[in-house]
Amino acid sequence: MTEPELDPSHIMQVGMGFFGSRTLLSAVELELFTHLGAGELTGEQIRERLGLHPRAIPDFPDSLLALGLLRREGEGPKARYANTKQTAMFLDKKSPQYIGGILEMAGSRLYRFWGSLTEALRTGEPQNEIKESGEPMFAKLYSAPERLEQFMNAMAGISAGNFKALAEKFDFSPYETLCDVGGATGQLSCMVAEANPHMRCTSADLPPVEPIAKRYIAQTGLSDRVKTAIVDFFVDPLPKADVITMGMILHDWNLEKKKHLIELAYDALPSGGAFIVVEALIDDARRENAFGLLMSLNMLIEFGDAFDYSGADFKSWCSEAGFTRFEVIPLAGPSSAAVAYKPA
Ligand SMILES: C[S@@+](CC[C@H](N)C(=O)[O-])C[C@H]1O[C@@H](n2cnc3c(N)ncnc32)[C@H](O)[C@@H]1O
Repeated sequence: MTEPELDPSHIMQVGMGFFGSRTLLSAVELELFTHLGAGELTGEQIRERLGLHPRAIPDFPDSLLALGLLRREGEGPKARYANTKQTAMFLDKKSPQYIGGILEMAGSRLYRFWGSLTEALRTGEPQNEIKESGEPMFAKLYSAPERLEQFMNAMAGISAGNFKALAEKFDFSPYETLCDVGGATGQLSCMVAEANPHMRCTSADLPPVEPIAKRYIAQTGLSDRVKTAIVDFFVDPLPKADVITMGMILHDWNLEKKKHLIELAYDALPSGGAFIVVEALIDDARRENAFGLLMSLNMLIEFGDAFDYSGADFKSWCSEAGFTRFEVIPLAGPSSAAVAYKPA
């Protein structure tokens, strides 16, 4: 007899989690939530709009309903499906809060690469495009504009909530300038500038990224206070600024390169300046932040030797570089900002 407290449902939920994950990723890929943004649809209308086989209906929309990702009025063929409040806000491409970019990338790249996790665990080798092309991830991204744009949109999707929280929670009043290193679309710079009208920001990244950032910054109407700069942080020093930010940058690299980036930040800051990283920081005891820990495995899949880290790790590396004061600010969901201050 099974003891009542020994319930296998958690094991099954995690183990079969890819059923639900793939269903959501396909719904995003097929733009179901965007189609529903224009109004409710029956199962047959969903089939027509999305170009699906009759077998997909009603299982596909009803699965999303049961997963809490759609609403349904009525029963049977006449039933009408609609977005939930959350899917309307975050997964309709016409919504300014659209975050589906990260799920688009998860569906087209990561889902496949995570199928080779066991091999990554055995070999320590990346399992992404590098296996087919021999090219590292960023080089491969920069060689195809549509892939670069997709990656930039993915980053914007995963980072939007964190950058907004940082712009509102961190006290920018002692500072005037910020440089966001590896700034991608310029989203962090724009959000800080918008919430802090005294701040002037620079979004620094590699050359192929600059036109994408310029376009995004122009759309926000903040071009007078948000500029772009071209930087290769393994070749150049960083532009000087009172605050240096790095959103999901340190986790892309091995320890030696992480330490190099921290030293660059230290050199670019004035006395009293702040170095801020935004990451899915792992809790110091490495017990709780499952998303941060899985993100670190994602870095194994993408780069091999790259890894995510805790606030305590950040403090220890930054102390070596000369920073003397530290804090961790919780942001959206499982992410946090870790801040290191250069002595005044
Ligand atoms: C994981 S994305 C992070 C984007 C953004 N900061 C965020 O958190 O959403 C990494 C960024 O680092 C940039 N990057 C990669 N290698 C770089 C280098 N050597 N110098 C400058 N930027 C680089 C990429 O172009 C990309 O925009």
